[in-house]
Amino acid sequence: MEKVLEIKDLHVSFSTYGGDVKAVRGVTFDLHKGETLAIVGESGCGKSVTSQSIMRLIPSPPGKITQGEILFKGRNLTNVSETEMRKIRGADISMIFQDPMTALNPTLSVGEQIIEGIRQHKNIGQAEGRKAALEMMELVGIPSAAVRMKQYPHQFSGGMRQRIVIAMALVCQPEVLIADEPTTALDVTIQAQILELFRDIQEKTGVSIILITHDLGVVAQVADRIAVMYAGKIVETGSRREIFYNPQHPYTRGLLRSVPRLDADDAELLPIDGSPPDLFSPPAGCPFAARCEHAMEVCSRVYPNKTRLTSIHQVDCWLQDERAPKKMAARI
Ligand SMILES: Nc1ncnc2c1ncn2[C@@H]1O[C@H](COP(=O)(O)OP(=O)(O)O)[C@@H](O)[C@H]1O
Ligand code: SF4
Ligand SMILES: [Mg+2]
Repeated sequence: MEKVLEIKDLHVSFSTYGGDVKAVRGVTFDLHKGETLAIVGESGCGKSVTSQSIMRLIPSPPGKITQGEILFKGRNLTNVSETEMRKIRGADISMIFQDPMTALNPTLSVGEQIIEGIRQHKNIGQAEGRKAALEMMELVGIPSAAVRMKQYPHQFSGGMRQRIVIAMALVCQPEVLIADEPTTALDVTIQAQILELFRDIQEKTGVSIILITHDLGVVAQVADRIAVMYAGKIVETGSRREIFYNPQHPYTRGLLRSVPRLDADDAELLPIDGSPPDLFSPPAGCPFAARCEHAMEVCSRVYPNKTRLTSIHQVDCWLQDERAPKKMAARI
């Protein structure tokens, strides 16, 4: 499968008065052409920092990519010039955020903003820009697009605003769309509609999507693959089926127990006890050890190796080590 993005051993730190926050600690993953990869984990685990790194939008200082590579179609984005990066952002890799209002200019009509988005990257006239903007608004499902183009952001509902932001992100036909908690600010019905829109757009355009969320419920409908992040590391990756039906990391299992499932709405929801480790001085071993009911003596001392369970399913957990007592692995 063609790889659009390859993230290799990415490390990102922030220097603060209290010391260095090691926000991302050796993250490796690929994004394949036309797939939706979800990155899931509790707040503060490094999801946004990972996506900002891909866009080279880490505030620096205090932030810094200290190690690793971000390959976009073979090109290492960690060392391209800022001028080059400006050409890539929006045109090749686009990003949308949780709050559509921050991405929109309240003083311009939405049509003008979408046209401006194209003209930043393409040398086209007003009429051509208008035509492309109109097509985009129709693609993202805004009714009466020709009329609504002339309206201002405050004249749209939250869900419609997020559609406009998606239109802006897609107007230059990027190969990668990074959506960081794109539905968190929306109510459940609208959330489902926006997720449906992502699928629809992907079918029509073939864009590869990284969907970032703290909510496993959100990814159940749309993700092809899921990467579970904890304390700056990806601790388990697998197909959506593998993660939902055969999770192997105790943290993944904990996350699954803590989200409402569509097929078991009366089931008890159990939040994971405790909180993630301090990223100023993360533990040497498994960062989940302090919260893990299966932790063994080795866990807090040595970080587990990656175990490959299938061609796409892999997990970082000592329970998978061939030397671990089999009854322990069976218990989880
Ligand atoms: N500008 C910053 N300065 C210092 N620490 C930061 C900054 N941005 C993010 N962090 C820290 O990096 C870690 C990961 O944050 P983030 O990627 O935003 O988490 P998530 O998106 O998973 O909720 C957190 O501990 C956060 O406090
Ligand atoms: S490595 Fe040990 S502490 Fe970490 S998740 Fe696995 S069993 Fe639990
Ligand atoms: Mg975030």
